[in-house]
Amino acid sequence: MAAGEGTRMKSLTPKVLHKVSEVPILIRVLKTAQALHPKSVGVIIGSGAKEVQAAVGDAKGLEWIFQKERKGSGHAVKSASAWIRKHAAKSSDLMILCGDTPLLKAETLRAFREAHLTAGNAATVLSAKMDNPFGYGRIVKDDLGRVKKIVEEKDASSAEKNIHEVNSGVYCFRAEKILEALPRIKNENAKKEYYLTDAIEILDKGGDRVGSVVMRPGSLETVGVNSRVELAAAEAQVQKEISERHMLEGVTILNPGFTFIGPEVKIGKDTVILPGTMISGKTVIGENCKIGPNAYIEDSTIANGAEIRASFVYGATIDESVKIGPFSHIRQGTHVKAGARVGNFSEVKKSVIGKGSKVSHLSYIGDCEVGDEVNVGAGVITCNYDGVNKHKTVIGKKTFVGSNVNLVAPVVVGEESVIGAGSTITEDVASHSLALARPYQIVKKDWVKKKKGKN
Ligand code: UD1
Ligand code: MG
Repeated sequence: MAAGEGTRMKSLTPKVLHKVSEVPILIRVLKTAQALHPKSVGVIIGSGAKEVQAAVGDAKGLEWIFQKERKGSGHAVKSASAWIRKHAAKSSDLMILCGDTPLLKAETLRAFREAHLTAGNAATVLSAKMDNPFGYGRIVKDDLGRVKKIVEEKDASSAEKNIHEVNSGVYCFRAEKILEALPRIKNENAKKEYYLTDAIEILDKGGDRVGSVVMRPGSLETVGVNSRVELAAAEAQVQKEISERHMLEGVTILNPGFTFIGPEVKIGKDTVILPGTMISGKTVIGENCKIGPNAYIEDSTIANGAEIRASFVYGATIDESVKIGPFSHIRQGTHVKAGARVGNFSEVKKSVIGKGSKVSHLSYIGDCEVGDEVNVGAGVITCNYDGVNKHKTVIGKKTFVGSNVNLVAPVVVGEESVIGAGSTITEDVASHSLALARPYQIVKKDWVKKKKGKN
């Protein structure tokens, strides 16, 4: 079920497309469902249907079911009646999941399904005991512990509000039984909605066996995301799991609660992640690296022994023992080779920085090929853009580029050359040359004294 309005999110984005650790909530739920290898998966969509379809794509074995109006979870499943009839033979089973429970694990669902089949129930609900059950449907049981009904928060009496066993929104139904119950669900409740949860009472009253499987205490797997507060709680839980996985593999994370690591990120052992760091996308970090504090790294490859301090790095390749930062901006398509260094307030875009080269202070290097062991002085700028097109700069190995040099591209500076500080280089410089392109210094001796004498 993923058709709901998600009103409590107060968002223009459909609720199920909000992300938990870089992955939309619904995609997390679908991956979990697919791990059970079901015969078929139907996704009920309505609110923001086009956006949801575009985000999920046409995964194999997925069918879209449209709920035209949003009249509650019972109405959502009713919209899927034809699909249920098409896929579920009389005695086969249907598992229903909410599109807003991103933390559910496949092994939990597998065990839940087994319990449902073993008990031979018409319906089984996955429940959880919560210290604060507010907002969830409460599981009402009789003295013998049999499930009688589920009462929603807004319809619960004060005694029912005191029940701490809540509905996770995960159900197993025998297909024919849910089809029987659906037409009998009414909307006589506080929200005037057709609640799927009413199917439990309907089946119980009709003499069918209904059961529950309770999650192990303390599990957060059944958290439903209805507001940004629960979104943050789900994010914190996934981040906890991700950071623990890395720490158990030998990565030091100084303050896991103050670090973000995406689900696909790989990190080598003995690397230290310092607080305020965000590592996302398909980033791969080697061993013995020092990352942070306050580094942002996205879709980049960082080799062993590299250091990235307080810098932005995205779409870049950083080789062994490179030092980046603090306060560097390494952009898409950049390759910084072994032992090189890019220092504070330097930006590098779509460029190669050769082995052992230094771009230590206040530079902009764009569309540039810097050879090995080049010294790029403070404030060097590659003027790569003429207002229409981008042009390339090449700097040969072991060349010394003095401070505040402008390299007006396209331009080639040869190997082992020296460019005098403050030069604006507009023409190629041959190897082993000194290039100076700046006004000569004029010194007028005693000029100040003479000026004062006149006054
Ligand atoms: C629901 C359950 C509640 C349970 C909780 C678990 C009902 C009536 N209540 O409450 O007992 O404790 O989940 O998280 O089901 N949806 C549709 N179409 C609609 C309405 C909802 O597809 O017309 C979908 C939503 O997208 C969502 C799911 O159904 O994925 C549940 O709806 P939601 O509004 O989140 O219900 P809760 O208040 O969380
Ligand atoms: Mg919900």
